[in-house]
Amino acid sequence: MSKAQVRALRSVDLGFSDPDKALRFFTEVWNLTPVGESAGVHCLRGTGAFHHILTVRHLAQPALIRMVLDAADRATVDALHAQVFAHGLKTIDPPAPLRQPHGDYGFGFKDPEGRNIAIVCGVKDHADGADKQDRPRKLSHVNVNADDSDATLRCYRDALGFTLTDTTARLRFLSCNADHHSMVLGFAGGPTLNHIAFEMPDLESVMRGAGRIRDDRRPIEWGPGRHGPGNNVFCYFLGPEDMPVELTAEMQQVDATHRAKTPEQWRWLPGRLDHWGISPAPSERMDAAGLKIHFTDNGWRLDEWR
Ligand SMILES: [Fe+2]
Repeated sequence: MSKAQVRALRSVDLGFSDPDKALRFFTEVWNLTPVGESAGVHCLRGTGAFHHILTVRHLAQPALIRMVLDAADRATVDALHAQVFAHGLKTIDPPAPLRQPHGDYGFGFKDPEGRNIAIVCGVKDHADGADKQDRPRKLSHVNVNADDSDATLRCYRDALGFTLTDTTARLRFLSCNADHHSMVLGFAGGPTLNHIAFEMPDLESVMRGAGRIRDDRRPIEWGPGRHGPGNNVFCYFLGPEDMPVELTAEMQQVDATHRAKTPEQWRWLPGRLDHWGISPAPSERMDAAGLKIHFTDNGWRLDEWR
C-alpha cells in the first residue's frame, strides 16, 4: 500500500497578549477577512476556499499553538495516524470527530522536536475562492527552526508524506502538493517559528501589500526579492508582537519530474541572498524575531475542537 500523504498546509493558530491589536493588523493591514469567533478564538480567511487560514486568541505571550495540515478524507487521516504512531512519536491522540469549522475528523500530535501539528479532514470550506488583488489567497508556507533537522525531516517525509524539494546551506524545503514548499526546516534555533508566509495572487499584490504595511509604520525587514528555492517573490515584516510574517507570490509549481538541488548548487555570489540582489540582508530585528516564537505545550491537543 502506498504511503498516506497530507495534501495542504491549511492554517496556523496563533496567540497574542493583545489579540485586539493583532486582529486589527491581520484584517485592516494584512487584508484577511473575519469569518467567526467562538470562545475568544477568531477565525480569519484568505480569498481561497479554506474556511480560515489563521486563528487569533489571547495568550500571555505571542506563541504558535499549532500548524494545521489537511488530509483528503477519514481513511487518509487514519492512515496518517498509523504512520505517525509507527514513526515512534509518543505524544499523539487517536483520530476522533471534530467540530466545524475545524473539520469533521482529525488528530493532533507533537513532532520529534515538540512542534504541535493537527491533521484534519472534512472542513466545510467556502464555495467562493477567486483571487482578489492585494489580498492573501492562502498560507504559502511555515518556516520552522530545528536543532535536529534530520529527525524532523524523517518525520515529515516518512510519516506525513512530504517530499524534499531543495536544500540550501541553511534550509530544507518540503512539499506536499504542487507548491515547491509548504514547510521549511532550518538547521538550528530550536523548535521555534522562523516565519509564516502568506501567498498573494501576484507580484503587484506583494508590492501593494508592502506599501500598506509600511503605511502601518512597519518597515520591510527583508526584500523585495525573489528566492532561489521556490523562485517565489518575497517581502518580510514584523507583525503584531514581532510575529515574523512574509508576503509571497509566484511559488514554483513542481511535479514528479522535479529534481532537488543541493547546497552546492544554491551558492550565491558574495553579498547576495536572492535572484534579484536589490535588497540588503534581513534586518537584525527580523533575525532575532525569527527565534522568539515558541509552540505552546498543549497545542497538540484538539479538545477545544471536539
Ligand atoms: Fe518564506
